[in-house]
Amino acid sequence: MKAIVQDTYGGTDVLSLRDVADPTPKNGAVLVAVRAAALHIGDLMLMRGEPFVMRIGTGLRRPKKPIPGFDFAGVVTSVGQDVSRVEPGDEVFGEATGGSCAEYVVVTTEKMAPKPAALTFLEAAAVPVSGVTALRGIRDAGNVKAGDRVLINGATGGVGIYAIQIAKSLQAEVTAVCGPGNIELARELGADHVIDYTQDDYTQGEAQYDLVLDNVANRSLADARKAVAAGGSYISNSARSEGRWFGAVGRMMHAAVSSLFVRKQGRPFYSPVRRQDLLDLTELIEGGKLRPVIDRTYPLAKTTAAMDYIASGHASGKTVIKIAG
Ligand SMILES: NC(=O)c1ccc[n+]([C@@H]2O[C@H](COP(=O)([O-])OP(=O)(O)OC[C@H]3O[C@@H](n4cnc5c(N)ncnc54)[C@H](OP(=O)(O)O)[C@@H]3O)[C@@H](O)[C@H]2O)c1
Repeated sequence: MKAIVQDTYGGTDVLSLRDVADPTPKNGAVLVAVRAAALHIGDLMLMRGEPFVMRIGTGLRRPKKPIPGFDFAGVVTSVGQDVSRVEPGDEVFGEATGGSCAEYVVVTTEKMAPKPAALTFLEAAAVPVSGVTALRGIRDAGNVKAGDRVLINGATGGVGIYAIQIAKSLQAEVTAVCGPGNIELARELGADHVIDYTQDDYTQGEAQYDLVLDNVANRSLADARKAVAAGGSYISNSARSEGRWFGAVGRMMHAAVSSLFVRKQGRPFYSPVRRQDLLDLTELIEGGKLRPVIDRTYPLAKTTAAMDYIASGHASGKTVIKIAG
């Protein structure tokens, strides 16, 4: 099969399109012919191998996972042993730990679900990691209820587009923080209020919120906390950072430790994709409460350009790779 492969960590020049052996599904897993993949900042970090501390898990000298990409949508072509609820021909979407920037990928059934019928493969691939992150951040970690005031910093990127819509589906009052070019998009997705970060600093105003979901982490924890109402929480959901050694780990540790002592501060969270979350997102999609927003689509051979765009930090929604169909 054709796949994007990296033998070492580095910039986009480490990525190349190659012919590699097709993967084989083992127990509890299926083989999927990938129609579309999507990228996010986690893929960029894995390509670069930064922050360096991450390499303890991902491979010290070279990536243990040589094919980039997690998000996928495609068609099941064969199933391994002990697989009962999926059959060849099923259209599915989810998270592939083996690398989705490839013509085929092996996926465990716990990390996939039937593709929402209303979505194309490109649209479905745009949902899993960012959609689940937003769902777990807003619904679970944030425990958002009707009438809550929710502020989303970085509201029109991959996670933010879903976070706005999920918070609205829970009947929250949503304030989106984004750049001037994305104000209209934030409103279309349902934001009640929009703060243009080039004009106003959400940490310096009078307004306070029951939940601040911070996808950017461009303010100090002390400043961000000023925007949180008594009894509310702050969720740090940003892995972007200048630090090449520890990246956002320092900020996350700070948030985790100080959350033990300081009210108004939630712990950072990690949200691996689970089948039930994909089913919950599908219900929202089918109920007309959630839709993906695709910013740019690239062919597999142009995955390097897609990574460069992710690196810009200014995507309006998702960056998707078309692989077949
Ligand atoms: N917890 C998890 O499991 C998990 C999973 C996935 C992602 N994440 C994290 O979630 C974060 C967001 O990811 P993403 O995919 O949404 O990123 P993204 O697609 O790059 O979006 C970033 C957004 O931030 C906005 N932005 C840039 N500068 C800003 C500023 N100064 N103030 C406010 N907004 C600003 C941009 O809007 P403009 O274009 O308008 O500037 C852009 O829409 C990442 O740090 C990632 O590590 C966590």
